Formats: sequence, C-alpha cells, structure tokens
Amino acid sequence: MDKTLYRLVYLSRNTITGDDDLLQEEIRGILDVSQRNNRQAGVTGALMFNTGCFAQVLEGPHNRIQDTFERIQCDPRHSHVSVLAFDRVEARYFSDWDMAFVGQNAQRIEQFAGFNERSSFDAKALDGDTVFELLRTHLDEAEQA
Ligand SMILES: Cc1cc2nc3c(=O)[nH]c(=O)nc-3n(C[C@H](O)[C@H](O)[C@H](O)COP(=O)(O)O)c2cc1C
Repeated sequence: MDKTLYRLVYLSRNTITGDDDLLQEEIRGILDVSQRNNRQAGVTGALMFNTGCFAQVLEGPHNRIQDTFERIQCDPRHSHVSVLAFDRVEARYFSDWDMAFVGQNAQRIEQFAGFNERSSFDAKALDGDTVFELLRTHLDEAEQA
C-alpha cells in the first residue's frame, strides 16, 4: 500500500436544527460512524463544531481520504463544504485518534464566529494551516484538562 500521507482540512456549515439534545445526539452519531469507518480505512483526524459550523481534519492515504470525504460531502447535516487544504504531509498529527472530538467552548465559538464574519465561508479568506492549528491547539488543551 502507498504509504504517502495526506491531510485534508475543510470547513462547512452545520445544518442540524433542533434543540441541544438533538444536536448532541447527531454529533455522537457522526463520531461513532467516523470512528468505525476511519479505523477500517486507516484515516485519522479531528472534528470540531459549534452551532454554526464544522471544521475537520482528515489524515491518511490519498485514496482513503477521498473515499471518506466523498461520503462526508454528501451528508445533509452540513452544507457549503469548503476544502482549505489537501496536502502531502510527512506524518500524522492525530495518529492516536480515528476521529478526535474537539467539541466546543466559548473561545472556539468566538474564533469560528470570526471566521464566519470574515469569510462567509469563502475559502480564499481562510487557510488550512490556521484551521489545523486551531484543532491541534484545542486538542492539546483538552488532553491537559
Ligand atoms: C461534519 C461531518 C463529519 C463526518 N466525518 C466523517 C468521518 O470522518 N468518517 C466517516 O466515515 N463519516 C463521517 N461522517 C459521516 C458521513 O457523512 C456518512 O454519514 C458516513 O460515512 C456513512 O457511513 P456508513 O456508510 O458506514 O453508514 C461525517 C459527517 C459529518 C456531517
């Protein structure tokens, strides 16, 4: 198998409507499926969400990321999927996670709100490194907590 690794970073709009319980339930469902499928596909990564949007990093072989992302793109639970980066990388960062969940907190929501305002999901206004750093940083914080 080709061992060359890639990292895809995207943002999308969360289209899940309903109360908090429903949102949590949907997120739980997404994570369960992701963990099961990604483990099998050799894909790792992290997912962050708030009521407005999702940010996700997927790492793994090119074709495995493509297959996974094709399914993700068709998912009606989000829209305006915008790829910020799909680059070759030397190593996985989220190697211990089939799909790490960064969750949400006030600071992250603020940062996402900033993204929203600035970009209206215009991919040109954002870059994959910034979003990758955001997930990486918050995952580190979550681990320390
Ligand atoms: C924001 C978001 C992120 C998702 N991430 C993944 C993922 O990393 N891996 C995955 O297999 N499915 C992911 N999904 C779910 C897929 O869209 C799809 O429902 C699932 O892959 C179908 O799997 P199944 O054919 O095994 O039921 C995600 C969905 C959303 C809305």
